[in-house]
Amino acid sequence: MMNIMLFGAPGAGKGTQAKPIMERYGIPQISTGDILRAAIKAETAMGMEAKKYMDEGKLVPDSTIIGIIKDRLTMEDCKTGFILDGFPRTIAQAEALEVIMKEIGIKLDKVISLNVPDNAIVARITGRQGCPSCGASFHKIFNKPKVDGVCDLCGHGLITRKDDTEETVKVRLESYHNQTAPLFDFYKKRNILVEVDGMKELSEVTSEIFKILG
Ligand code: AP5
Repeated sequence: MMNIMLFGAPGAGKGTQAKPIMERYGIPQISTGDILRAAIKAETAMGMEAKKYMDEGKLVPDSTIIGIIKDRLTMEDCKTGFILDGFPRTIAQAEALEVIMKEIGIKLDKVISLNVPDNAIVARITGRQGCPSCGASFHKIFNKPKVDGVCDLCGHGLITRKDDTEETVKVRLESYHNQTAPLFDFYKKRNILVEVDGMKELSEVTSEIFKILG
């Protein structure tokens, strides 16, 4: 059983690192961003409401997100553990997570903080190409797919996310510093936060994470 959270600014590499962790430990990635994008694609009422916030780079209201997580964590595939990616994003979400986990009888084992400075984030996000099918993340320069525009993992065509513009990244970084960054101290106080230099080569970051997780 391994319950972990990947923490970091937009573009820090959470989605990228979630994939090798999933493969090695056989636990699912729970990305609130991916769940919201799937809801938008399916044109559900929740998706349409969330879209307004996401397109602007703002956080979706806590009540929506907490409901999503409660449903997801009680699913069968989470029984052996999970990787939280992009959740929690506010102190209220972190507190709600503690309540939900207590109800299920589990706890968060480790929070891995991927440290990347703001000045590297814009280049990472504006060059990103993502797979809308399996969620894999590539980069036009730093992490090129084997075949241009095609996902290495599932063969689906790659896309650029609507919120990956320079303008929206600035708002997302603001949301991160104002609402999400306080979680660093929140988890440090609980003695489960481990820092990783997210500026290293992609594979080196993965090795560091594997060393931490054992
Ligand atoms: P979400 O989908 O969670 O986006 P995000 O947090 O902004 O994170 P990203 O997916 O942009 O970055 P990442 O860290 O996964 O980076 P990646 O690995 O792709 O959220 C989107 C929106 O949904 C939010 O703005 C909000 O509106 C809403 N939302 C979601 N969750 C919410 C919540 N809990 N509460 C409220 N609202 C919520 O890497 C980025 C790029 O860098 C890639 O191209 C990659 O190839 C490259 N890269 C990665 N690692 C390296 C490396 N070491 N060196 C060089 N390049 C690298």
